[in-house]
Amino acid sequence: MGSFAKAERLLARLQALGEVGALPGGGVCRLALSQADGAGRDLVCGWMRAAGLDVIVDGIGNIFGTRPGTQPGPSVMIGSHIDTVATGGIYDGNLGVLAGLEVVEALDDAGIATLKPITVAAFTNEEGARFAPDMLGSLVHVGGLDLGTALDIVSIDGARLGDELAAISYAGTAPLGAIRAAAYLEYHIEQGPVLEAEGTDIGVVEGVQGISWTEVTLSGRSSHAGATPMRLRHDAGLAAARIAAGVGEIVRGIGGDMVGTVGSLKLSPGLVNVIAEKAVLTVDLRHPDEATLRQAEAKLAALIATVAAAETVTASTRTLARFEPVAFDKALVGSVEATARALGLSTRRLYSGAGHDAQMLARTCPAAMIFVPSVDGLSHNVRELTQPGDIANGLDVLATLALDLAGRANAAVVGISRANAATGETTDSNANLKES
Ligand code: GLV
Ligand code: MN
Ligand code: MN
Repeated sequence: MGSFAKAERLLARLQALGEVGALPGGGVCRLALSQADGAGRDLVCGWMRAAGLDVIVDGIGNIFGTRPGTQPGPSVMIGSHIDTVATGGIYDGNLGVLAGLEVVEALDDAGIATLKPITVAAFTNEEGARFAPDMLGSLVHVGGLDLGTALDIVSIDGARLGDELAAISYAGTAPLGAIRAAAYLEYHIEQGPVLEAEGTDIGVVEGVQGISWTEVTLSGRSSHAGATPMRLRHDAGLAAARIAAGVGEIVRGIGGDMVGTVGSLKLSPGLVNVIAEKAVLTVDLRHPDEATLRQAEAKLAALIATVAAAETVTASTRTLARFEPVAFDKALVGSVEATARALGLSTRRLYSGAGHDAQMLARTCPAAMIFVPSVDGLSHNVRELTQPGDIANGLDVLATLALDLAGRANAAVVGISRANAATGETTDSNANLKES
């Protein structure tokens, strides 16, 4: 059982977008606001315009392409991101944006007008790998961070966000929050192993766990690796290693769903025979429960103080990102589940381990997510893969639910002009939404 949407066109576009910033051995590098991100944006905006969408770009570079409804008012928004980590796959984020595009094109093909507009959104810098925090574009969109502060964020390579946005010509003029959403849907790969392991078709996402990112800077003193007795050292490298190991102990000690990662560790001057005078490391802590996340943060702070004292180095910390756990709208989550089941797909409720733009949109409208299985549970890895059949399943759920939420304005009339589609005729939005 399918829907009116066409998975083949979506899969072809995923491959084509995956060519932009492609890495030699597979995978893709389109870090936020890099030249490759700019080229990817150009490709997606070109597709949006070719599909007849009204495309606008706001001051943080978020892209919105809207297919009008027959009635004015807020949109059903379908979105995600097209930036990637430096060693990313072609599905993370891209799937949600391109699936949104597929939904509106398929509605055109089927001659279906909707009551509400449908907006396809691509949010800036979801990954946070180059500019922290993650989910930045959607955070600014919902008013969670002011534009000026966001534009002044400096990347891991020393570039100012506002300058990089201008350099790729995506410093847009549309007012922030110009497109209001009646509901937000994000279709994403699971990025974890649960759905595949259980043989479940669709993950019904109940919420997103809390995220805490801390950058730790340790300052010691460089001296000779052979000539300096251990008791007289101020070794920032050793202190960093102890903190990294300690993060593992904290996280394993709390157990359950607690996860922690030291994903970046840089030593200066970084030479074999020189004691490091400086170390900068990042700590990513996540848990679905805010109190537990706070407990882990407190343990991390104590660990840093203890290690700094023991290794006679000074420590300072900077919060790169801090987002509390988010629960999605119960009714919309239920609709995702009911839609998938009506299509004959197996479902499972779960919490998202990864951060998503949906958690920001949830501040201003009902939001929900659709997950499909990741092969070997891999993501943020060039080997990231989701099988075509699974992509098609999720697309069917997205398309069916988006049409249900937007409301069918007409019987399927091929060739209907959107400009004069406002017949005023409405039908039951719960009517059979499958392709006839
Ligand atoms: C961002 O997508 C993250 O979860 O790290
Ligand atoms: Mn993503
Ligand atoms: Mn990601």
